[in-house]
Amino acid sequence: MEGAPWAKKIYDEAGLTVWQAPISEDAKVLSTCFELLSASERARFERYGHRWKAITFALGRGTLRRILGAELGEEPRSLQIETDENGKPFLVGRAVEFSVSASRDLALIALSTCGAVGVDIEWIDPSPGSLAAILRHCNSKERQYLEGSSLAEAFQAWTLKEACAKALGMGMKMPLSSLEVLFSDRVEAARHDPLSTTRLAVPEGYCGAVATFPQEL
Ligand SMILES: CC(C)(COP(=O)(O)OP(=O)(O)OC[C@H]1O[C@@H](n2cnc3c(N)ncnc32)[C@H](O)[C@@H]1OP(=O)(O)O)[C@@H](O)C(=O)NCCC(=O)NCCS
Repeated sequence: MEGAPWAKKIYDEAGLTVWQAPISEDAKVLSTCFELLSASERARFERYGHRWKAITFALGRGTLRRILGAELGEEPRSLQIETDENGKPFLVGRAVEFSVSASRDLALIALSTCGAVGVDIEWIDPSPGSLAAILRHCNSKERQYLEGSSLAEAFQAWTLKEACAKALGMGMKMPLSSLEVLFSDRVEAARHDPLSTTRLAVPEGYCGAVATFPQEL
């Protein structure tokens, strides 16, 4: 079973793998991904009022299906992906967890056999106000740590925190400021026991991080 040739493996350690894929209007990749979507995923694609968001969803989900299919030796289209009450997608009946994130024209897909996983990628948005927006989602301790940080460091902190939130499956109902993480080594890592986090090597202009919640699947 072939994986997704347009995706590149950027991390592979102890049951945790992360792939990076471009989001583009490449007609061949887009139609390959679209073909793999379930009826409800296609309906979701049609509902997006924004073309780039629809493309991002189709590429992310289609690439995820190709990677999962190759890892599990199953037909990507036949995989049953459902969503829990907080919006976190999961694969029915298989001991593998995944997480997807996209920003601007890159997506990350993480697969884990060692527990729940959350991945996040952010384009470092230089517009005025983006630093303030990040700090708004931090609590006072985190804000104190980030005082005097560069924009890139603040975005790195944001991806570490988002990765934790996604591994925990928080969703939109809980404010991100209610999750406290402890940053260390100039935002090389963040702690929120028992989660462990890793900063990912992504292309310049982006930040990325992955978090895992060790547990038996
Ligand atoms: C909701 C949330 C997952 C969206 O993240 P984002 O940075 O906007 O977008 P990303 O591209 O990184 O991630 C989107 C993917 O996350 C996944 N996701 C959605 N809900 C999730 C949840 N509860 N837990 C884990 N993953 C989730 C989905 O796979 C989604 O992709 P899909 O729509 O293609 O299936 C993330 O913001 C989050 O968990 N936040 C925590 C709490 C929070 O921010 N509250 C906001 C109050 S204003």
